[in-house]
Amino acid sequence: MRFTLLATLVGLAVGAFAQSSSADAYVAFESPIAKVGVLANIGPSGSKSQGAKASASNSAGIVVASPSTSNPNYLYTWTRDTSLVFKALIDQFTSGEDTTLRGLIDSFTSSQAILQQVSNPSGTVSTGGLGEPKFNIDETAFTDAWGRPQRDGPALRSTAIISYANWLLDNSNTTYVTQTLWPIIKLDLDYVANNWNQSTFDLWEEVNSSSFFTTAVQHRALREGATFATRIGQTSVVAGYTTQADNLLCFLQSYWNPIAGYITANTGGGRSGKDANTVLTSIHTFDPAAGCDAATFQPCSDKALSNLKVYVDSFRSIYTINSGIAANAAVATGRYPEDSYQGGNPWYLTTLSVAEQLYDALIVWDTLGSINVTATSLSFFQQFSSGIAAGTFPSTSATYTTLTSAIKDFADGFVAMNAQYTPSNGGLSEQYSRSTGAPVSAVDLTWSYAATLTAFHARSGKTYAGWGAAGLTVPAVCSTSGSGTGSGGATVAVTFNVQATTVFGENIYLTGSVDALENWSPDNALLLSAANYPVWSITVNLPASTSVEYKYIRKNNGAVTWESDPNNSITTPASGSATETDTWR
Ligand code: NOJ
Ligand code: NOJ
Repeated sequence: MRFTLLATLVGLAVGAFAQSSSADAYVAFESPIAKVGVLANIGPSGSKSQGAKASASNSAGIVVASPSTSNPNYLYTWTRDTSLVFKALIDQFTSGEDTTLRGLIDSFTSSQAILQQVSNPSGTVSTGGLGEPKFNIDETAFTDAWGRPQRDGPALRSTAIISYANWLLDNSNTTYVTQTLWPIIKLDLDYVANNWNQSTFDLWEEVNSSSFFTTAVQHRALREGATFATRIGQTSVVAGYTTQADNLLCFLQSYWNPIAGYITANTGGGRSGKDANTVLTSIHTFDPAAGCDAATFQPCSDKALSNLKVYVDSFRSIYTINSGIAANAAVATGRYPEDSYQGGNPWYLTTLSVAEQLYDALIVWDTLGSINVTATSLSFFQQFSSGIAAGTFPSTSATYTTLTSAIKDFADGFVAMNAQYTPSNGGLSEQYSRSTGAPVSAVDLTWSYAATLTAFHARSGKTYAGWGAAGLTVPAVCSTSGSGTGSGGATVAVTFNVQATTVFGENIYLTGSVDALENWSPDNALLLSAANYPVWSITVNLPASTSVEYKYIRKNNGAVTWESDPNNSITTPASGSATETDTWR
């Protein structure tokens, strides 16, 4: 039984209501369930968090991704899921909405301090272990093969802990902050400052390259980390964090595809690059004080809105459950259109992220008292007013009223989509079937519940402390050197195009003589995009004025074939960009 049926039974003719009434009803129904759902998955007392495996007991503060133990087995703890979940809980606590959460938050920080020190396949605490994506729920290392490292984890964790630490400082608990929390925060921030320019698996644990979400959350972490360090008098780290934050902000711009009007999620991967990665970035780096600034892809920025439309539209024709829905109405959305994991279905948390970005945008437009439509965001706004032109529309104008009410309704439509496919007990799994809407994959996914809570908060107009996104200036020249690799040199964007015919299942990669080309590592080689097959391409930031050697390799089911000798070479220009046009040898 679907939520709409349940609602009908309790007397609400949801189907006959506008999207907003259906969303209202779902918010009332699902909010308490989502809160209980989050808490049930946190050890040691969460009702669903108990280790089903006899050997594994769930330690205090440890977030189980889902109690599902097979297909998929999610009875592990991921740093990303945990940090996003606790950021939501910490916001509830610091805003006074739920004052009971303090003990749980303390157990979260203590358990993270333990996990930081656990040696694991990514390394020790000082040799890269902080990038390990997941652990066993008894706080031991997970040692099977996995997509590692995932470098968003330390950034998201420090963001969560900093938001708690700022509240503690406001409430005169300085000693605990400087003696207990700062060492945890500093380990993560140092890791980000030293490793941000190294390749990473994306948040979906599949693509090893650079990833927009990871870059953006790393930028946020170092930016707010510098401010936080200043606040507690730890001034020695401030310049280093700020330098790398500037470099990250510079690099962040390179993901924007100005011709197609969207953010390319990963530099590798060989896909369209349309991905919920980018929408999740807007909501998790939202700063209400930053207005509609496009440098940090704020939710109401023209780039983020253009991107949102392209992302949403990529799911209109691929899911059966979206068929027959008007081209400007809400649909169910997934991680990325090419996804095949567990059937490649819509996800609750990605569909809600669309709604949350729009609610955030509505909050900021209301504060600014106007909407600015640019050439970049025009196609987004034309969905709601076909005749609209670029310009600024003050809140007193009819156009502003038309746009904001249509966008609120559009946002509510994404909530209503989840509502339609939420089972009658309110349980939220990871996905719902693209053909029937029935729940699929991990049951009671903690992140699904947390995403529900944050989207509903944004819908009610609530905002939380910002992180310093306002008024940032993008440096004119990007440097990709982490502080650990010595002096920051300038880089240039080099596009590699290689004509290569491949068989099904085979992909083309690039590796070479510098860090940015993974130092001749076939394992870490960069995957090229086949968007213009048989030409495979990738754009990489390489050190300027440097001679670099490289080769393409092909991989098929683990088998690696190198191009024949000699190595290809290029001397990069001092500035600007360059293109290499090759044919597979
Ligand atoms: C498990 C990961 O959690 C998931 O994100 C990924 O899609 C699959 N492995 C397939 O690689
Ligand atoms: C798979 C998702 O792709 C990944 O982002 C998440 O961390 C894990 N599942 C656990 O929920």
